[in-house]
Amino acid sequence: MKEEVDRSSVFDEIIGSSPGVKLILSKITKVAPTDSTVLITGETGTGKELVARAIHRRSKRSAKPFISVNCAALPSSLIASELFGHEKGAFTGADQRRIGRFELADGGTIFLDEVGELPLETQVALLRVLQERKFERIGGHQQITIDVRVVAATNRDLNAAITAGTFRSDLFYRIHVFPIEVPPLRDRKEDIPALVRHFVEWYAVKMGRKIRRIDPTTMDMLQAYQWPGNIRELQNIIERSLILCDGDIFSIDVAWLTVNPSHRTTGPLLERIFEYEKEIIIGALTESKGKVSGPTGAALKLGLPPTTLESRIKALDINKNHFK
Ligand SMILES: Nc1ncnc2c1ncn2[C@@H]1O[C@H](COP(=O)(O)OP(=O)(O)O)[C@@H](O)[C@H]1O
Ligand SMILES: [Mg+2]
Repeated sequence: MKEEVDRSSVFDEIIGSSPGVKLILSKITKVAPTDSTVLITGETGTGKELVARAIHRRSKRSAKPFISVNCAALPSSLIASELFGHEKGAFTGADQRRIGRFELADGGTIFLDEVGELPLETQVALLRVLQERKFERIGGHQQITIDVRVVAATNRDLNAAITAGTFRSDLFYRIHVFPIEVPPLRDRKEDIPALVRHFVEWYAVKMGRKIRRIDPTTMDMLQAYQWPGNIRELQNIIERSLILCDGDIFSIDVAWLTVNPSHRTTGPLLERIFEYEKEIIIGALTESKGKVSGPTGAALKLGLPPTTLESRIKALDINKNHFK
């Protein structure tokens, strides 16, 4: 419980002013006071749980529990008992009655993370809870009525899962009441500087460090990178850097950013190629400390005539001075 409180007080703020984040915030504001079921979709690390907590906090249920269940983290044999509880003797090893997460969340919100991973038989039971707000503990006969708001999240394409037969379409329509899509970080790169400042500040305080400024080259690299692990990856890299680097200027090691052009699967081809090109050129300029020509220059490393590299630097709007 204490851990829950600590976590939420620090991480509950949704940073960003991109159109994507603004849209999410306006949706949260609209849906939070209702009791509607919310389905949050988005890649891993994009902030789905943060959105779920924000919905709870801004709802009339905020004084009641927010109970989070990661459906992917539990073995399928235990999920039903985890969600609905069990009576003593319900199955081998059930030597005590256990209260499930739905009962714990009574009056509040239950967050079903990775709902796409639920086994089919649990999906049936969940559907019934959503329809009737009633269930029985496993091995029990007494009907339990609960008042719970459901917020679900998934990084899976549930429509594809329905086609594949691993997700029930009736359950999908039950939870797909108010969808909120959280865009990947690479589609809202304008949020990166604010996120970087936010995390640098928070880890610096936590570690008792004084950071005076953020190295501009570092900021360029962080902004050029594609972030396959989204905000969680950004947060981890900042934490690692603060552990490893001394001094009062925040910088990172370019080697920590895994350059992988294939992780992005949508977006116009040329735009993706240019982003990748920019990453590579920034990497070379970092190593050459901003020098383009000459034996230690970036052009030689990249196998390009210096004039060609100069024109690409200009076209891609890279500031060479940052690397000096
Ligand atoms: N917009 C944001 N502003 C600040 N922190 C964020 C934001 N989005 C995500 N985070 C942080 O990034 C981490 C991953 O977010 P989380 O909600 O767990 O992602 P998901 O559930 O989508 O995998 C968390 O520590 C969260 O606090
Ligand atoms: Mg999550």
